[in-house]
Amino acid sequence: MPQTTNTELIQMLAAAVQDEHAAIIQYLRHAYMMGEGELACEIEGIAREEMRHLWILSRWIVRLGGQPTTARGFTDLAGATSPEWMQRDVAAEDRAIAMYEGYLARIEDPDLRADIEHILADERRHRGDFVHFVDKTTLEMQTPPEEPAEEPAPAMAAVDKNALEWGVNHEYAAILQYLVHSFLTMDKDEEISSQLMTQAINEMQHMGWFGEELVGSGEEMPLTHHPLTLPADPAAMLEADIQLENETAAMYGQFIEQMVDPGAKGVIDDARGQEMYHETLFGRLRKRLKPVTSPAATPTTKMWTVGTLKRKS
Ligand SMILES: [Fe+2]
Ligand SMILES: [Fe+2]
Ligand SMILES: [Fe+2]
Ligand SMILES: [Fe+2]
Repeated sequence: MPQTTNTELIQMLAAAVQDEHAAIIQYLRHAYMMGEGELACEIEGIAREEMRHLWILSRWIVRLGGQPTTARGFTDLAGATSPEWMQRDVAAEDRAIAMYEGYLARIEDPDLRADIEHILADERRHRGDFVHFVDKTTLEMQTPPEEPAEEPAPAMAAVDKNALEWGVNHEYAAILQYLVHSFLTMDKDEEISSQLMTQAINEMQHMGWFGEELVGSGEEMPLTHHPLTLPADPAAMLEADIQLENETAAMYGQFIEQMVDPGAKGVIDDARGQEMYHETLFGRLRKRLKPVTSPAATPTTKMWTVGTLKRKS
């Protein structure tokens, strides 16, 4: 087996992370465009597995002394029908399979090999799933609908469109920010790390609600995200996350006052409630990192609050 240097290994893993990121966005976009249904749910499930791959590979980058990347690789946005989208997802899995097979020929570390083999097995399963989805969607297109085609949805009000697009940009940023914070905090506090991963998945649900509303009204789902805050220190990460939730809940509140469509308004309001929960949850997690004071500390010891955290930051 040829010698692969640490630097080459980090570069290989970073390329894989960018492709996993692209797969998440490509699959979610396709799931939202297909609307509510069993198939869309299954595709979202695959996107969640790609999120796990991104996490595993990023952990390795950190472990090897590299910088995690939040860049996105090639995202295939072509195709006009469900079978075409599913065919492009088969192609994405083919590219991933070829990449990981190539990596196995160059990687000696048994632990890293085991993780790559685990990911490769998932990609082979995904490929099989997408091949099946090509057949299923092709068949659906050939079967005439029992009911006449629905009237095209009326154009979305600008205020609703703005809110949903801002929401997708935010949720996309929150997913990435919490994912990165999750694998960076893993060695410091497993509870914090696993909660951040869980909430990243929750933000992905919000993105789904907004994406479906947009696509259902004939709009495109934005594929860009708000800027990320990625400090090195776990306490600073949680403070940034608390601030992000706080600002987002306020922004959603402002949108709700102006929005017109009850469906669009409803999803923004549901997300707003969950952002407020995230803010308190992150506040609780932040306290876990409070420096331990002397055992003589009394209950009057100053407690962290969101307000004091903000002043501190
Ligand atoms: Fe993957
Ligand atoms: Fe995959
Ligand atoms: Fe959210
Ligand atoms: Fe949130």
